[in-house]
This record gives sequence, structure tokens and C-alpha cells, in this order.
Amino acid sequence: MIELNKTDIERIKCSRHIVFFTGAGMSAESGVATFRGKDGIWNKFRPEELANFDSFMKNPAMVWEWYSYRRDIVRHVIPNAGHLAIAEFQKYFPKITVITQNIDNLHKRAGSNNIFELHGNIERNYCIKCKTFYNDIEERVVPPKCKCGGFIRPDVVWFGEYLPEDQYKGAEIAASECDYFFVVGTSAIVFPAASLIYIAKKSGAFITEINIEETDISSFTNKTIMGKAGKILPEILEKIKE
Ligand code: OAD
Ligand code: ZN
Repeated sequence: MIELNKTDIERIKCSRHIVFFTGAGMSAESGVATFRGKDGIWNKFRPEELANFDSFMKNPAMVWEWYSYRRDIVRHVIPNAGHLAIAEFQKYFPKITVITQNIDNLHKRAGSNNIFELHGNIERNYCIKCKTFYNDIEERVVPPKCKCGGFIRPDVVWFGEYLPEDQYKGAEIAASECDYFFVVGTSAIVFPAASLIYIAKKSGAFITEINIEETDISSFTNKTIMGKAGKILPEILEKIKE
């Protein structure tokens, strides 16, 4: 059973605006590998070789293939019990905001409707020359090319790139306005995304972390619940419904 007592549950129940700030661990139980840790993808691939603009220009086919491979994984997985629980929270609270570092679209597919995607979305692509957006693309030629002749790239944030301004701004406002802030399945070491945790705390929100292990922010949160997101979140929801 989870380590939440009556006071903890009451605190959640009294919240008017709850934020869920999520990372790769949120989707681990759906079968999408995390970046770091035991089964992390970055153990096998070096991020600087794949997730940056210079690599894309030097070897667009290689980078494109890597994202095609991950897009294919994401399309074949489904939201897990944790994603579904977060979406169901919407029924019980005036405002729920999801701020995710994930590019896998699983919160949307689970039914959450107020989502800020800090690192983009693997389902979207755009032309690096004329900025036309493409959802579905023909991959007969790799990398695919736009009508204007420019290369098409995935709409994800690469190392050294800025976060989408509107998404970060919206997330920052939510973090500073909410009264409860869950940090779920993230190592919380990638900035500026992780700075939202500090903004929320400074603005007075109660911070609860859900992770299978301790992280850099565990000593900073008000509470850390050790366990899998797909198990803990439905349990919290059940307690709220009681
Ligand atoms: P990480 O791979 O760094 O961290 C995943 C976290 O999830 C770890 O702390 C795990 O302990 C935890 N975890 C694993 N399985 C879990 C489960 N079932 N339930 C709960 N927690 C679990 O992923 P992120 O923190 O998302 O950025 O990484 C942040 C960013 O670094 C990513 O968005 C990506 C990467 O570089 C870009 O691509 C821009
Ligand atoms: Zn173009």
C-alpha cells in the first residue's frame, strides 16, 4: 500500500489545481525505454551523436532512422494505468495540468486535455527550411523532403536547442499557480524542464515525487513515494474517490 496518510489525501482533495510533471519513467510501463538508469537508451546510444542539429545536417538519414525507429515503438504501445489515472483526475478537480518531457503522445491518447509538451512530439515533423508542419509523412526517401526541397525533421527538442516558448511559458505559469505538484518518473536533471519543480515549490505548491528510485530532487520534495507510476497513481486516485 502507498505511504499516504489521511492528511496527505485530504491535502490532495482540497487542491484546486494539480500539476503532473512527467518524464520517461511515466511511459516505462507502456514499453518505452527511459533515457537513463538500468534499461536507459542512452546506455546504448550517445545522445550527442543522435539528438542534435549538427548530427542531423551531417548525417540526416541516420538521425531520421533513429527517430523512425522510436516513432514506430511509440505507435505500437498504449497508455498505461498511470496515464489513464492522470486523465481521470480531470473528473475530480477544477484544474489539472500535465507538463511532460515525453515526446510519445501517450498523455493525449489517455485523454488528458491540458498538456504542455516541453520537448516536442514525435508525431509531428517540420521542414527546416520553410517550417511547414507535417503529421504523416511518406518515408520512401530518408530523410523525407519538403515540397520546397528542405529536409524534414521531427518536432522534438535536441541538445542545445531552446524549448518551445509557448509550451514552457504555459508550464511555468501552471507551476507557479498550482497548489499540488506531482513529479513522476523523471530523473529531474535536465534543465530548464527541471526548474519547474523549484518554481512550484517556491510558489508554495506541495511537491510529491513518484519514482522507483531516489533522484537528485528527492531531498527537496515534500514527499517521495517509491514505486511504479502505473501502480501508485491509480492507488492515489482510488483513495481520492473514497
Ligand atoms: P530519465 O531516463 O532521465 O529518467 C527516468 C526516471 O524514471 C528515472 O528517475 C527512473 O528511476 C524513473 N522510472 C523508471 N521507471 C519508472 C516507473 N515505472 N515509474 C516511476 N518512475 C520510473 O528520463 P527523463 O527524466 O524524462 O530530453 O529525461 C529528461 C530528458 O532527458 C528527456 O526528456 C530527454 C532526455 O535527454 C530530450 O530529448 C530533450
Ligand atoms: Zn519546406
